[in-house]
Amino acid sequence: MRLEDLDTPVAVVNLDKLEFNIREMAARMREAGVCLRPHVKTHKTPVIAHIQLREGAVGITVAKVGEAEVMASAGVEDIFVAYPVWGEAKWERLRRLSHRVCLRVGVDSEVLAEGLSQVFAQHGEKIAVLIKVDTGLGRTGVSPGRPALELAREVARLPGLELKGIFTHEGHIIRDFGSVGEIDGPVRDVARKMRETAELLRREGIEVEEVSVGATPTAHLMCREEGVTEERPGTYVFYDATNVGFGVVPEDRVAFSVWCTVVSVPRPDRAVIDGGTKAFSSARSPKVEGMGLVRGMEGARFAWANEEHGVLDLSSCPGALRVGDRVEVVPVHVCEAVNLWDELVAVQGGEVEAIWPVLARGKVW
Ligand SMILES: Cc1ncc(COP(=O)(O)O)c(C=O)c1O
Repeated sequence: MRLEDLDTPVAVVNLDKLEFNIREMAARMREAGVCLRPHVKTHKTPVIAHIQLREGAVGITVAKVGEAEVMASAGVEDIFVAYPVWGEAKWERLRRLSHRVCLRVGVDSEVLAEGLSQVFAQHGEKIAVLIKVDTGLGRTGVSPGRPALELAREVARLPGLELKGIFTHEGHIIRDFGSVGEIDGPVRDVARKMRETAELLRREGIEVEEVSVGATPTAHLMCREEGVTEERPGTYVFYDATNVGFGVVPEDRVAFSVWCTVVSVPRPDRAVIDGGTKAFSSARSPKVEGMGLVRGMEGARFAWANEEHGVLDLSSCPGALRVGDRVEVVPVHVCEAVNLWDELVAVQGGEVEAIWPVLARGKVW
């Protein structure tokens, strides 16, 4: 079947671009001597995780226990749950999962470490733990330096836990800066905080095997920073309009798009497509004008959307679209968009090659 024969809206993956993106990142990490453990929150699709592993990833990263369970059932053997997993029920699921795969989990508080420790220790078992360090995002994580040391001492003391190292997500860099051209200093700053924290722990006799960092826009710089052992970029498999707006890659590198059909042209300067927030999510970004990039149409601006309606502003190209025309749109934030789809259609040279179920979508627990 050809791409143009697919009914819309439809989530499409360009296989050539996907494989290029995966191989490029893998080669970059290999050259830098850094392990690649991609965050699969972007695609949530076991088939794509296996392509990443085939191309050299040491394992994967997830945010949810449910995502880890799906990936484990699909044959992924090494998983890092980079999230402060809380509660007896989830710790028990982690314990059961740890019998099936090589598992590690993030921790950023004593109370969480204690709960996790109890569940594993009472069975005489252990789980590998990494301490989350907040290097500027202001989300989860202990501060670098002494606060990280204090938590590390606690984790090292607790039975049932095996301290592997520290990790951070430098997502504030794309949030706080205008383009990739401005991020050399901020990347060095994150790397310095992680290096100094690791050194502090080691001076206190605590082994730090892993110093894990991760974000797509910083990966090319971060992998060259001394002390970094592992990178966890996620969005790079597809990229999205936010990454394009930040200058990470040109638009033609984006491997994911949603094909839509124009269903209404109430005025020459407005076209309405059959994809709205249910197809793209409500994501907006200061790096993107509107709700996505309309490929191949400079003048068309994806101005706003309701659930089933996407409104394109054609004031700079009035009359450019008619009812029945098809448009290809790159979402603002691909991870949120993919989470809305049951299936991704993999296309090569305009031909449908495969339909991939997004098995780990919607795993909120
Ligand atoms: C903990 C963690 N690691 C890695 C990533 C990957 O970052 P990016 O989406 O920029 O590739 C994320 C993304 O949200 C994350 O939360």
